[in-house]
Amino acid sequence: VPAEITLSNVEELAAEKLDPSWYGFYAGGAGAERTLRENVAAFARWRLRQRVLVGVERVDTNARVLGHDLSLPLVVAPIACQRPAHKDGEEGMARAAAAVGAGFCLSTFASASPADVAGAAPHGVRFLQLYVFRDRGLSDELVAQALEAGFTAILLTVDLPVVGMRDRELERAFVLPEDLHTVRVARASGSGTDGLALVDPTIDWAYLDRLCSSLGVPVVVKGVLEAEDARRAAACGAGGVVVSNHGARQLDGARATIDALPEVVDAVGDRLEVLVDGGVRRGADLLVALALGARAVLVGRQPVWGLAAGGERGARRVLELLREELEITMQLTGCRSLADASRAILVAR
Ligand SMILES: Cc1cc2nc3c(=O)[nH]c(=O)nc-3n(C[C@H](O)[C@H](O)[C@H](O)COP(=O)(O)O)c2cc1C
Repeated sequence: VPAEITLSNVEELAAEKLDPSWYGFYAGGAGAERTLRENVAAFARWRLRQRVLVGVERVDTNARVLGHDLSLPLVVAPIACQRPAHKDGEEGMARAAAAVGAGFCLSTFASASPADVAGAAPHGVRFLQLYVFRDRGLSDELVAQALEAGFTAILLTVDLPVVGMRDRELERAFVLPEDLHTVRVARASGSGTDGLALVDPTIDWAYLDRLCSSLGVPVVVKGVLEAEDARRAAACGAGGVVVSNHGARQLDGARATIDALPEVVDAVGDRLEVLVDGGVRRGADLLVALALGARAVLVGRQPVWGLAAGGERGARRVLELLREELEITMQLTGCRSLADASRAILVAR
């Protein structure tokens, strides 16, 4: 690992290593990237209350997330196509997550298969992110493979009925490579292989309702920004929601996820697990999200930059730095455990 990786410089270190079109793919957002900037800026608007003389030699970051005891309330977000970032790919990322006690979520458009991930990190907590394809047989096959490989929740991504306009990809005529597990499965079964164009934009609440009652594992609805949608997800029997704007890659102009989180927590926090992602760059951001009621936080780009900069060890370093800064921030705000991380540690806005 480049020993000098920090949470401030890791994107830069990654950019030096990555081919520019791949850097643009991982970094980019939709449209004018207003929401991309806003996701980060909204965290920076929160102020924390420094507390003293609490007795915080040790802090407890354990959390119960979707039926698992995680020692860190963090899940590596589903990020498509990680092998081009580093040959360690999703297998290395899953090992890095397991090593720090975080969960790992595999993308539908991953370089690796569910079995690859399970083999690489057999004791890690693993979830599958699902896109529903027009060819339902393809989605069903992917889910079956994941369940077979010990994945314990399905994160159904609902904010991509169409793909946002991503200028950084257009500039370089970037297209997802064919070397993806799902594309291989699609080929083998004779369905089309046109990546994201296969996603079915017609799925609706009735579909979610059926999915929740037909799968034996929790369905977590990823990509909710409105309390009303969260209520509907709860009514369908979802086990959780991820307050997310897809890392600002879909609706440019959508609000920052950390701004949407409190309303969702107030609406459904007592009925299902509310997770959040988007714009987390620091350990302090994790604490703000937890204080606002998130059960756990997904982090996407930061660990990917770690992977690009230094493979599995780089990703692990980034996750360790996030843990370390979460702990320091808990100590300085007087939180001995995550139960203490309430809105009371934040300066009200
Ligand atoms: C390069 C890239 C690829 C992504 N691929 C997927 C994907 O395949 N499925 C999905 O549900 N979300 C995907 N996302 C969204 C992430 O899961 C997550 O919501 C987002 O990255 C969180 O924001 P952050 O990167 O600021 O932490 C992707 C995001 C990025 C940056």
